[in-house]
Amino acid sequence: MEKRSFVTIANFSKEKILYMLEMAREFEKHPNRHLLYGRVVATLFFEPSTRTRLSFETAANRLGARVIGFSDPKATSSSKGETLKDTIKMVSNYADIIVMRHYLEGAATYATEVTNVPIVNAGDGAHQHPSQTMLDLYSIYKTQGTLENLNIFLVGDLKYGRTVHSLIQAMRHFNPTFHFIAPDELRMPEEYKIYCREHGIKFEEHHEFTAESIADADILYMTRVQQERFTDLMEYERVKNVYILTPEMLVHSRKNMKILHPLPRVNEISQGVDDCEQAYYFQQAQNGLYAREAILCDVLGITLDEVKADGARISE
Ligand code: CP
Repeated sequence: MEKRSFVTIANFSKEKILYMLEMAREFEKHPNRHLLYGRVVATLFFEPSTRTRLSFETAANRLGARVIGFSDPKATSSSKGETLKDTIKMVSNYADIIVMRHYLEGAATYATEVTNVPIVNAGDGAHQHPSQTMLDLYSIYKTQGTLENLNIFLVGDLKYGRTVHSLIQAMRHFNPTFHFIAPDELRMPEEYKIYCREHGIKFEEHHEFTAESIADADILYMTRVQQERFTDLMEYERVKNVYILTPEMLVHSRKNMKILHPLPRVNEISQGVDDCEQAYYFQQAQNGLYAREAILCDVLGITLDEVKADGARISE
């Protein structure tokens, strides 16, 4: 079995993405397996998390693995000055997979350089969040029946929101048209606009967020303004409530349109939207379990054929 890390989605081919989505679909049919029986999965969260950590841990448990790790770095020896390198080398003595969230951009890539244990990037600073992207793709595919030729509106904090950065890279294979809706302070970083131009990805930038401006969306991807990444809290106060989605804004929406959000939300989606048929963000989080089961298997070299054969045994 060939082991591999998962730190970015940028190097995934179209075939690999579709392969991973098919594996996620297999896990949605049968979430409980023994494919990771006897394995240990470490979850090292240097930043807060609810969904990513708990869904990775649930995925590991449902696959028969055992889980070690921490969600509060203050309770670890990193608070005594232990380096990330030493922490990774230590945990590599205990675990078969390391799932890591870190506040520094590039931390996951760095971790791959100091260990042979597969590293899964559960978010590195404002950079990337590739496992979120896998569940976003799965959610888009499930709700739209395709990933091809979609109008995807990204709204809110496009500067610090790492999920939108990873999503752009993953969608490059599927001829999307992106609409970036953000205030000037939070607009999409130049490097991702350059990426779009280099890969022939169509995009437009807007400030306006109204029922009319989002009427053509197939996917409306809302994001939280990331308070923790601001150095100037006055600036955060200025922009924190810049866009708030309300049920009234959905009057012109396409029939197929779905609202995604990586969560947590703060104010950017009013509670009233939760009961609208377009709201899909809680199901999206549930899809994270299946996508992350697929990721844990893939980094250990467990193939789609093996997952299918295992599923067939369960169905007998
Ligand atoms: N979407 C996401 O990353 O959520 P958490 O921060 O709760 O893990």
